[in-house]
Amino acid sequence: MKILVVEDDLDTLQGLQMLLEESGLEVRGAATLADAHAQLAAFDPDVCLTDLQLPDGDGLDFIRAAHAENPRREIVVLTGFGTLDSAVEAMKAGAFDYLVKPLRPVQLEAVLERLRSGLPRDEGSADPWKSLDQTGRFGPIVGVSPATREMCAVIARVARSDAPVMITGESGSGKEAAAQTIHGLSRRRGKALVAINCGAVTANLIESELFGHEKGAFTGADKRRAGYFELAQGGTLFLDEVTEMPPDLQVKFLRVLETRTFRRVGGNEEIASDVRIVSSSNRDLAEAVEKKTLREDLYYRLNVLPLQVVPLRERREDVPVLAKHFVSLVAESEGGALRSFSPGALDRLAAHAWPGNVRELRNVVHRAYVLSDGASIGESTVVAVLAGRSSGVFPAVRPPVAGGVEAETAPAGSGPAETPPAEARAPGPPLSVPVRVGDSLEEVERRLLEQTLAAVGGNKKKAAEILRVSLKTIYNKIKQYELER
Ligand SMILES: Nc1ncnc2c1ncn2[C@@H]1O[C@H](COP(=O)(O)OP(=O)(O)OP(=O)(O)O)[C@@H](O)[C@H]1O
Ligand SMILES: [Mg+2]
Repeated sequence: MKILVVEDDLDTLQGLQMLLEESGLEVRGAATLADAHAQLAAFDPDVCLTDLQLPDGDGLDFIRAAHAENPRREIVVLTGFGTLDSAVEAMKAGAFDYLVKPLRPVQLEAVLERLRSGLPRDEGSADPWKSLDQTGRFGPIVGVSPATREMCAVIARVARSDAPVMITGESGSGKEAAAQTIHGLSRRRGKALVAINCGAVTANLIESELFGHEKGAFTGADKRRAGYFELAQGGTLFLDEVTEMPPDLQVKFLRVLETRTFRRVGGNEEIASDVRIVSSSNRDLAEAVEKKTLREDLYYRLNVLPLQVVPLRERREDVPVLAKHFVSLVAESEGGALRSFSPGALDRLAAHAWPGNVRELRNVVHRAYVLSDGASIGESTVVAVLAGRSSGVFPAVRPPVAGGVEAETAPAGSGPAETPPAEARAPGPPLSVPVRVGDSLEEVERRLLEQTLAAVGGNKKKAAEILRVSLKTIYNKIKQYELER
C-alpha cells in the first residue's frame, strides 16, 4: 500500500512518515499543495493522509483532485480539534475518514487496519442501486418515492465513509432501517452492528456496559466481560435515541470519540476502538443542544454526516409498495396466504396521515391482514383498523374467528355505512389474551406484552411491574416484537 502524507508541520510530517514506514508502508511526504499534486501524478498513492490547511491553499481542492483522478483512492483527513466543519466538507469531497490532531499511534493504526481490510466499496454500492431501480428495494428499505431514492443515494455515499452519521426523523419513520442499511453496505458489514438504546442503559452500570470490565473490578464482577465498544469492534455502534443519553455517559462517550481508545473498568490496557458510530434521534437536535440535554461538543462529533428520514406522509408514493411488502412479511410469519388490498382500501391507506409512520403502517397492515380472511383486504377493515388507532385501542392480534367473516369488496362509496369487524369495535383493551395450543410461545409473549402495555396506556414501568420483569427486558421485548408505534 502506497501512502502520501500531506502536512505542512514538518515535525508532524516526519513523525507520521516514521510511524507509517514502521508499519511496512511505502510512504512519501509533501509539505505544500503544489508538491502534493506533483506526487499524485508521480507516486500514484493508494491512500492520501492530508491536512486541510496548507500554506499554498485549501486541502479540499486536493481531496477533490485526488478523488476525481482515482475514485478507489482512499483519503483520510487530518483535522485540528474544533474544526470538524471542514472535516464534514472533506467527507463530502470524497474523504473516507478523518483523524483529529494531536494524533495517537493507536488511532492511526486502527485507520490503517480498516484500509488494509479490503476495499469492497464499489461492489458494495453497485448492487443495491440496481435493485432499487428494478425492485423498489434497497437492502431492507422498500420505497419508490423521490424522497426514498434521495435517502438511498445519501446512504450509499455515507456507507463508504467511516465518519459518524446522525440519522434524524420522526418515530417509526425508518431510522434503524437506515442504520442497518448503512452498516450492510459498509466495509464493516462482516462485523457486528451493536445497538444501544441510550434511554434504557442502567445508570449505575453504564461504564461497565459500554467498556466492559476486568474480573474483580467491582463486587460481583466475577468474570471479565466485554462492553458494547468491544462487541462492536470492527463493526458499527448504533446509538438509538441519542438525546436520551445520561449526561455522565455523554462525557465518557466524548472521550472515546476524541481519543478513539478506551479501557475496561478495572483495567490498564488502552484498547483502540475501531467502531463506526451511527446515531439516531426523533427529537429536534438543535433544541436538545440548546436545552443542554445533549452536549454541544458531542453533538458536533456525532453529526458529521447528517441523514434525514422523511415522514411517511411526505412520501405517500411509498405507502402501496410498503403495504404490499408488509403483507408478504405477515403472510410469512402467520403462515397464511398472500392478500392484496382492494382499491378502496389502498385509497384509505394513502389518505391517512401516518403519525406513527412506517411502523404504524406495518401494524395496521398486520391487523388488517389478521382481521380479514378473503383473498383481499377490504376498505371496511382498513377503516376499522385506522379508527382503532385513534381511539387508543390496540386490539389483540388473533386468528380470524369463525363467523367473523367480513363482507369484502363493498360497493364503492358505501364506506362510512359499513360496520367494522367486532374486534375493532371493542370498547377498551381486552383484559385477557387468547392463547391456543398451536400458538408459538413467542407469539403468546408478544400478545401478552402488547395487551399489558395497552392496559396501562403504554407505561413501560407499570408493564414491567405487572409482568414482573426488568424495565430493560420490557425495552428489549418491545424492540424484538416491534411494538412501539
Ligand atoms: N423504507 C422501509 N422499508 C421497509 N421497512 C421499513 C422502512 N422503514 C421502516 N421500516 C420498518 O418499519 C418499522 C419501523 O422502522 P424503524 O424501527 O427503523 O423506525 P425508527 O425511525 O427507528 O423508529 P423509532 O424512532 O421509534 O426508533 C421497522 O419494522 C422497519 O423494518
Ligand atoms: Mg429506532
